[in-house]
Amino acid sequence: MALQLGDIAPDFEADSTVGKINFHQWLGNSWGVLFSHPKDFTPVCTTELGATAKLKGEFEKRGVKVVGLSVDSVDDHLAWKRDIEQTSGAKVEFPMIADPDLKVANLYGMIHPNASDRFTVRSVFVIDPKKKVRLTLNYPASAGRNFDEILRVIDSLQLTDQFKVATPVNWKQGQDVIIVPSVTNEEAKKLFPAGWKEVKPYLRVTPQPRS
Ligand code: BEZ
Repeated sequence: MALQLGDIAPDFEADSTVGKINFHQWLGNSWGVLFSHPKDFTPVCTTELGATAKLKGEFEKRGVKVVGLSVDSVDDHLAWKRDIEQTSGAKVEFPMIADPDLKVANLYGMIHPNASDRFTVRSVFVIDPKKKVRLTLNYPASAGRNFDEILRVIDSLQLTDQFKVATPVNWKQGQDVIIVPSVTNEEAKKLFPAGWKEVKPYLRVTPQPRS
């Protein structure tokens, strides 16, 4: 069965551009983003990895370690890295896993045989410090992902882990949030001193709490 939200992200050992990685050990107490791309030296993948390299500071601010993966070899990754750096103008400092025998790809369900039985689709797994899978995404080879959206969801996950809130449609850091329905109005008075707007009894909007 495919990996589901709340499952423990499977551990593995694999070769990468920074040497052997023991996944859980490498993650340590950080959040993690494991993402696959179909093939090295391909155009959409080149733009995605360049964009991810440029977002290094944004991932670091959130305590997130990023790791890429494809079925290509470490030597290919290292050669392609130079192209990514040249085209994006950013240094690729996150590791890229080489998975030629599809070991990790199969463990994470990154091979969708009716799309391709040789290459991974564009999968994303956001993993929390307890190693739980908190977000999964699968995109086709032809559509580059939006890495700002991945950061946006991480912001939501980190906020909602801390406060009894949820985030509405298209929410961005700093915008109003929703008080979760399990919180009574009595409790909400203590938890949200800034107050709230009751759009419906089940839809209470409050300024984003800060830690
Ligand atoms: C690309 O990254 O451009 C790509 C990779 C595999 C199949 C199609 C496109």
